[in-house]
Amino acid sequence: MGRINKQALIRAAAKVRFRAVAPYSKFKVGAALLTKSGKVITGANVESASYGLTCCAERVALFKALTEGHKHFAAVAVVTRAKGGAMPCGACRQLLAEYAPNAGVLVADSNDLNSIREFAVRDLLPAAFLAVP
Ligand code: THU
Repeated sequence: MGRINKQALIRAAAKVRFRAVAPYSKFKVGAALLTKSGKVITGANVESASYGLTCCAERVALFKALTEGHKHFAAVAVVTRAKGGAMPCGACRQLLAEYAPNAGVLVADSNDLNSIREFAVRDLLPAAFLAVP
């Protein structure tokens, strides 16, 4: 994750986190995707009364970005109120492996935005399913 502004991407995720719709879990998550051209697209988790329909912040951001025409991603930041931040779930890892395979993953606690943990999408889902044969 060479020349990207990690702090700025984390701050964008922290800001959109307040837009989370999480009346059931109260666990608010913000995500910010950085395109290779430098644009930032954000998203937050949205929950349903039918709990299983909930969509994570990472997927909301990714679906927004893709349907706004963005295809190439450098990084995704995820911010929530948890010690060390929270890692993307398995479903989000699958979508990120498909649509942001070269992206870095930045994770932080909303109470400590300066402590950023760094990962790579390609390391989070080894041997991902990528295409119907
Ligand atoms: N959640 C996310 O938005 N992203 C994650 O990486 C983990 C979980 C959401 C889903 C649900 O609304 C709440 O956090 C509790 O699981």
